[in-house]
Amino acid sequence: MNLEKRLVLSEKQLDKNNLAIENEVCHVRSEGFSIFYGANEAIKSVDITIPRQKVTAIIGPSGCGKSTFLRGINRMNDLIPSCFTRGRLLYKDENIYGQYTDPVLLRKQIGMVFQKPNPFPKSIFENIAYGPRLHSMKRRAELFDLVEESLRRAALWDEVKDRMNDNALGLSGGQQQRLCIARALAVDPDILLMDEPTSALDPRATAHIEDLIGELRGQYTIIIVTHNMQQAARVSDYTAFFYEGVLVEFAPTSELFTNPGRKKTEEYITGRFG
Ligand SMILES: Nc1ncnc2c1ncn2[C@@H]1O[C@H](COP(=O)(O)OP(=O)(O)O)[C@@H](O)[C@H]1O
Ligand SMILES: [Mg+2]
Repeated sequence: MNLEKRLVLSEKQLDKNNLAIENEVCHVRSEGFSIFYGANEAIKSVDITIPRQKVTAIIGPSGCGKSTFLRGINRMNDLIPSCFTRGRLLYKDENIYGQYTDPVLLRKQIGMVFQKPNPFPKSIFENIAYGPRLHSMKRRAELFDLVEESLRRAALWDEVKDRMNDNALGLSGGQQQRLCIARALAVDPDILLMDEPTSALDPRATAHIEDLIGELRGQYTIIIVTHNMQQAARVSDYTAFFYEGVLVEFAPTSELFTNPGRKKTEEYITGRFG
């Protein structure tokens, strides 16, 4: 097939995919959004509309910018001195990088879970109570209910209800990760960012987290980075494929994996590089 024909075909594909996405309520949107580390443009002029209360997976080979883009959404990159952005990134139509946006408040609304579970070296209770206290959300009595509620949502309550004063570091890796999810949920976020949340876990703990994502779908907007394409296919409604900082394709997950619109996507999902 010649290049022109192929381009026309992929434009059609994009139209179809964009139509599916346009029917969703938008939650995070970017326009010509770039992220630099000094002179290195790690994210290159990305236009994306991430739908509300769906699971969006971000896939692509190592170093393509998945973590950089994810961290850009709640301004975790602010902590890196060489890092700056260009273009626009909007959360509910507000500029995430606007001069009046408070990053602390933003991170309450847009929580994050990391690759390696990182509970505080404190009791299970304190891990969950910390955030709500910080945002002075609750009185003491209400705090107990909130801790229980958050642990229930993270499917951890039954396993830890009798050991709330134990140190969180005594939990298994999978339990620690669910604790980190509960900690993020305790401040009542809108969006949950997850950066390869199962890559440090065994298959059983991984399945547990994937089930949990299934339960949280529809209540939160979840954006999950994964290098595992089967995982993306299992847990997500939409998938974004990045390559060398460029958003190559964004489409409903079933569409992207069965009928990719771009040659690069096809090469990646069929394992020709990675
Ligand atoms: N803290 C940092 N300082 C400078 N460059 C970075 C930093 N973090 C990532 N990069 C660079 O940005 C690019 C994308 O990295 P990253 O977002 O970690 O990719 P991925 O998560 O897809 O593996 C890479 O070239 C990487 O070297
Ligand atoms: Mg990464």
